[in-house]
Amino acid sequence: MYTILEKRKLNDAVELLVVHAPYVARKCEPGQFVMVRVEEGGERIPLTIADYDRERQSVTIIYQIVGYSTTRLAEKAVGEGISDFAGPLGRPADIHPGKKRILGIGGGVGAAPLYPQLRKWKETGAEVDVILGGRSKDLIILEQEFEAFCGQLYMATNDGSCGIQGFVTDILKQLLHNGHVYDEVIAIGPLPMMKAVVDITKPLGIPTGVSLNPIMIDGTGMCGGCRVTVGEETRFACVDGPDFDGLLVDFDECIRRQGMYKEMEAHACRIGRG
Ligand code: FES
Repeated sequence: MYTILEKRKLNDAVELLVVHAPYVARKCEPGQFVMVRVEEGGERIPLTIADYDRERQSVTIIYQIVGYSTTRLAEKAVGEGISDFAGPLGRPADIHPGKKRILGIGGGVGAAPLYPQLRKWKETGAEVDVILGGRSKDLIILEQEFEAFCGQLYMATNDGSCGIQGFVTDILKQLLHNGHVYDEVIAIGPLPMMKAVVDITKPLGIPTGVSLNPIMIDGTGMCGGCRVTVGEETRFACVDGPDFDGLLVDFDECIRRQGMYKEMEAHACRIGRG
């Protein structure tokens, strides 16, 4: 069992858990994820690592309560245990000294995996700016954490309750129009958002990393459930990703595949089984 050390509600639908997981905490790097099984016999859900503390032997995960398993996870209290917490899985994000200016773009809960990546870029000596977006103010998370090390923090909400009224891509366009130059953009959030970012950066040749979170089953490259097409090659997000060169990702295919299991998930919620 992996004990829950802390629990925090970030908004109505998103929660943060700090979990005692010594092995994962010792080995993990930004960009990697864990496979969580809330209880014996339940389904395995991939959750990206939002933070880690090697001394405390803890790993932070942030999740949106969207289906049966995340609802069960949300019912757990501090001091209770999670049955499986396997990882770290996937490849660490490619972060190395040399790039001077990085722009992170986090949509909704995508800000969670973006956070450790930007912090590590900052540690390499890069200047880091960030754009956070969501439907409304309540759905923007971790702004104080980003503010602590980012040069500029921009925000966009659909209803204008925080930052500009509009999309993260409106801010991106404005920054580029105003002459801001970035060596790399990292966009993590809903697929349509990442696609919209790439539609702007690709014609300009700005390297753009994205993090894909497709349906995953085993998380070890065996089942093929998480296949994505990158540069016309089939790749598995769980072992080849989840971070990929966004300029090469076939987003339309990812979006089609993501909708495949929606009805089954709704059914699992109705009958109360993961
Ligand atoms: Fe099975 Fe990636 S989850 S191959």
